[in-house]
Amino acid sequence: MKRVGIGLAGLGFMARVHSRALIGIPEAEIVAAWSKFPEEHGKFKEFAAGLGFGVKRFYTEIEKMTKDPEVDAIICAIPSRFMEPIASEIIRSGKATLLECPPSDTPAGVDRLNQLARDKNVRVMPGLCYRFAPCFRKVNELINSGEIGNPVSVRFSEFVPADSLARQWPTGSWAWNKSTGGPIVTMTIFCMDMARWILKSKPVSLTASINWLELPKYGTLGYHVSNSIRFRNNVVWINEFSSDDVTGTRSPLWMEILGDNGGSVIVDGPERIILKTGKGEKSWPFALTRPERWGHKPEDEYFLRSVVLNKEEPVVNLSDAKKALEMSLAILESSRTGNPVNFDSQF
Ligand SMILES: NC(=O)c1ccc[n+]([C@@H]2O[C@H](COP(=O)([O-])OP(=O)(O)OC[C@H]3O[C@@H](n4cnc5c(N)ncnc54)[C@H](O)[C@@H]3O)[C@@H](O)[C@H]2O)c1
Repeated sequence: MKRVGIGLAGLGFMARVHSRALIGIPEAEIVAAWSKFPEEHGKFKEFAAGLGFGVKRFYTEIEKMTKDPEVDAIICAIPSRFMEPIASEIIRSGKATLLECPPSDTPAGVDRLNQLARDKNVRVMPGLCYRFAPCFRKVNELINSGEIGNPVSVRFSEFVPADSLARQWPTGSWAWNKSTGGPIVTMTIFCMDMARWILKSKPVSLTASINWLELPKYGTLGYHVSNSIRFRNNVVWINEFSSDDVTGTRSPLWMEILGDNGGSVIVDGPERIILKTGKGEKSWPFALTRPERWGHKPEDEYFLRSVVLNKEEPVVNLSDAKKALEMSLAILESSRTGNPVNFDSQF
């Protein structure tokens, strides 16, 4: 069996998530890793040893890793503000790449990466993982099969405990810079993409309000985002994203889609989907562990098998990532101005 040699670019939280996913995929072998900060190499080596794998070579210059003949494809996970020069170097090398999302902090930056990928004929897949999460795939399948007719309204709620985010991004991390939106874009972009994907419609306008909480206990921030998006098919998709220090009372994920035949699809946490129709109730359990639950492992499997080995165009692309980024940025803008953000008819 041909194994795909993977190079990891960026050695933070998401590099660890992808590593946990990749070690369970027989076609994958992590052969190299890049971080411009050499102190991260040793820490990652220890982490890899704990998971039972070794990384053959560590690099501090991205050009060197892209030229490594054992590296067939690269997974790049660095903060969006710093992504463009690194991702451009990877694309110029001609190697297929999965870019974590958002792939830039501006829509124009995503356009430039997309243009470069087209010019160089390189397959670039954004890591829009919710499209690969088993629970959301099932939701999409139920909507496509017409079980509830046409969706008429959606409510989505996601809660992440503040202590867990503080372990993921300790105090001082890029994620806690309130002036650049804190973690809001990265915590909402996957749902923004999912809304377009599930509704198969374009957003018309978005309204949002963000309430921040100072969490001196962790040196981080809490947030409550209330957000509603009106789509061209007249569906209003309502979101609540939050992270604070309340424990034990909130479900990490709850979602309900109502259909025009009176039916509904409910996501009761990432482990259970319920379909309610005039014919009764059915449910599907998804007993999954971490790299699978939120879509990271199926996403990496798809990237390796279809995009890298079979050379297929990815089912989700940089244009989708740009639209999802524009919607997440609209959350920041609407909250700042107190007004709705209207999307262009070309969106
Ligand atoms: N798909 C998901 O579920 C998910 C979840 C969290 C984060 N993300 C995304 O993944 C990306 C990385 O997030 P993370 O949580 O791994 O962040 P992190 O802070 O844990 O790690 C980021 C990595 O980028 C490197 N880095 C930081 N500044 C840099 C610079 N100026 N130049 C080059 N490298 C630099 C760090 O050294 C580190 O190796 C972000 O775009 C984030 O939005 C995706």
